Amino acid sequence: MIILKLGGSVITFKEKPNTANFGAINRLAIEIKRANVKHLVIVHGGGSYGHITAAKYKLHHGFKRPEQLIGIALTQRAMQELNSYIIKALVLKNVPAVPVQPSACTITANGRIKKMNVDPIKQLLKNNIVPVLYGDIVQDLTRGCAILSGDQVVSYLAPKLRAERVILGSDVDGVFKSDPRINPQAELIKEITPKTFKQIFADIGGSTRTDVTGGMLNKIKELIMLSKRGIESEIVNAGKPNIIKRTLLGERGLGTIIHGD
Ligand code: IPE
Repeated sequence: MIILKLGGSVITFKEKPNTANFGAINRLAIEIKRANVKHLVIVHGGGSYGHITAAKYKLHHGFKRPEQLIGIALTQRAMQELNSYIIKALVLKNVPAVPVQPSACTITANGRIKKMNVDPIKQLLKNNIVPVLYGDIVQDLTRGCAILSGDQVVSYLAPKLRAERVILGSDVDGVFKSDPRINPQAELIKEITPKTFKQIFADIGGSTRTDVTGGMLNKIKELIMLSKRGIESEIVNAGKPNIIKRTLLGERGLGTIIHGD
């Protein structure tokens, strides 16, 4: 059983509001088809579909004013639209993918998943259907609403579904000691463990773009939590052709591996 996250920065153009990267989406659909994984869950991010709307209505601070209500609806709608493009591309390549809307089966408290009904996902997997979830705007018991990152969905589902592999497709080769977009000499970190994480935390800081779920740092935090539960994960570059296919087919070490001490 493999969980694959497709980062929003790969499947959308992050700087252009509501603009999907259809070239990347179609290429990834082909790679997923070619890898032909029997039990696969896909989770995708928001990129310019979720973060910009959510930030405009300040939804990452929770629900405080009635003017934000339409923002909740617009963010969900944007995510659903992006999801429909992913599903369409996969189905056209003959991958039996169906959408699973996280906000319809999840409740958070203080931004963390408190309850999620995973039974339909388990049943889909049993029947060799590929559930496709996404980062979403969900109802939160303490804040009114919360932005649920795709990364949190991945780290929640991995132990519940007993995932053998967790793959996070990003727009960079993995985790670097400094920002590779600014410093081309930046060094790729091949492995991170809970022990080495503290130093890395001090080195990398947050993501530079509009990201209401915290960029690379939060991603690593989720994966460190997962590693403490004995589940290894790997961040790889989904923007480069065939990396996702090769990783799905079992290759390790193409990016940054996060594992226990
Ligand atoms: C964000 O999901 C979802 C919303 C903003 C509603 P992610 O945080 O997983 O998205 P990316 O991969 O960073 O774009």
